[in-house]
Amino acid sequence: MELIEEKIELAASIIAKAKHAVVFTGAGVSAESGIPTFRGEDGLWKKYNPEEVASIYGFRRNPKAFWEFSKDLLGKTTAKPNPAHYSIAELEKMGIVKAVITQNIDMLHQRAGNTKVLELHGSVERLECLDCGEEHTWDYVGEFLIRNEIPRCKKCKSYYVKPKVVLFGEALPRDVLMEAVEESRRCDVFIVVGSSLVVYPAAELPFLAKRSGAKLIIINAEPTHADSMAEVVIIGKAGEVLPKIVKKVKEIKASERS
Ligand code: APR
Ligand code: ZN
Repeated sequence: MELIEEKIELAASIIAKAKHAVVFTGAGVSAESGIPTFRGEDGLWKKYNPEEVASIYGFRRNPKAFWEFSKDLLGKTTAKPNPAHYSIAELEKMGIVKAVITQNIDMLHQRAGNTKVLELHGSVERLECLDCGEEHTWDYVGEFLIRNEIPRCKKCKSYYVKPKVVLFGEALPRDVLMEAVEESRRCDVFIVVGSSLVVYPAAELPFLAKRSGAKLIIINAEPTHADSMAEVVIIGKAGEVLPKIVKKVKEIKASERS
């Protein structure tokens, strides 16, 4: 049997036994939905300087650069969940996955059917004015963007209206982070999908899960620095690997019932 098939079998056998599995995802899980990742050969950080376009100080200094970058990323809002997202939703439906902790802002896990999604870096769903807190819709902000203008707050006229995503230099939403820490502590299987695990504090969570006794599975297109502590590391595309794992888990569950 090919090595990857063996690893898929091993991952499936661990997941099938899980009492409280947690899935932790990064940009790689949405790559096959057409959303660019941040690192790796064609990553967004090769094209843009994150300090300038994705930090709170960069945004304050020049919101225009943020909106240029966002159009590149958010232009993909037509993106749809891919087989990786649907596989993770399937594992929740089977009662195996109890929570998804994601660094992604694209809301594709919810659209695929997961109901408990902890969005560490916020999401593009809502926008707010940093100066007066007024919430805004994409329809309202889109009016400015199609005229190539910087969106202005409808209440205080500030230029600092932005999606409720966590930029570099901003704190993660405290309640979400606390719940993600809690899930990482209590899970017995922690599955990393599509993350380079280089941005903290999110990247601390696999280590916390491992220290708390969980088995660690990593599914990623390239090696990560957490690989040495994982029970299983599968180098591959999430949209191809995860459906195979779910198929095996179903076979194991079916044979247990018969
Ligand atoms: N399947 C699985 N893994 C993939 C795929 C795929 N189809 N395509 C790419 N990958 C892997 C890449 O090899 C890479 O290791 O996904 C990982 C994506 O890593 P990053 O681009 O660094 O994304 P992420 O880990 O989510 O970044 C964390 O950094 O820039 C900030 O806030 C941003 O949330 C982001 C955070
Ligand atoms: Zn305002």
